[in-house]
Amino acid sequence: MNLIFAVDGNWRIGYGGGMLVHIDEDLHRFRRLTEGNIVIMGRKTLEAIPGQKPLENRINILVTRNKDYKKEGFYIINSLEDLFPLLKELNPNKEKEVFVTGGGTIARQLLLFCKKAYITKVFMDFPEADTFIPNLDLDPDWRMTNVSEVYRQGDIYYKYVDYERKGQ
Ligand SMILES: NC(=O)c1ccc[n+]([C@@H]2O[C@H](COP(=O)([O-])OP(=O)(O)OC[C@H]3O[C@@H](n4cnc5c(N)ncnc54)[C@H](OP(=O)(O)O)[C@@H]3O)[C@@H](O)[C@H]2O)c1
Repeated sequence: MNLIFAVDGNWRIGYGGGMLVHIDEDLHRFRRLTEGNIVIMGRKTLEAIPGQKPLENRINILVTRNKDYKKEGFYIINSLEDLFPLLKELNPNKEKEVFVTGGGTIARQLLLFCKKAYITKVFMDFPEADTFIPNLDLDPDWRMTNVSEVYRQGDIYYKYVDYERKGQ
């Protein structure tokens, strides 16, 4: 299982239900990495996606405690305990990668099961942001495996940093 997130300088990821930044190339990269695979998201992340549609060419899993929640194109689970049996059913030979795509609540609960993290580090601070994921730079169980050059979109500077759980 992998994490894929864009974070600010303090590993914050969202504000008021929305994203902190929109970087076109990052969204393309997100699509390239996740297409053909399985994505898991919390109900609030889905509601932040324009149109609230499933991500195309991916198996979409949505997590909510609301047993009446219905959304076409999603496998809906009401507990993370239901996640692993579902993944076994959907991906019996583990041919597909599984990506935790948001938000903070889901990432914090599933971090323990993640082996890789694809992090887009945005060189900005958003002190007003209200959602975060754990800072893997401070987590002794994780190590950085790759750092890209610095890219720029307008006045937003960013880089891609890959992490791996130690001992993999
Ligand atoms: N920067 C990035 O890369 C990135 C990526 C994705 C999202 N985001 C941002 O992150 C924010 C959303 O994150 P969030 O942490 O507030 O919410 P979230 O993780 O997307 O969703 C939280 C919801 O998931 C459900 N849930 C969580 N744990 C559960 C469990 N154990 N069992 C069953 N259901 C569970 C609950 O839904 P119910 O309330 O329906 O029960 C809960 O309210 C937004 O601002 C979004 O834009 C940023």
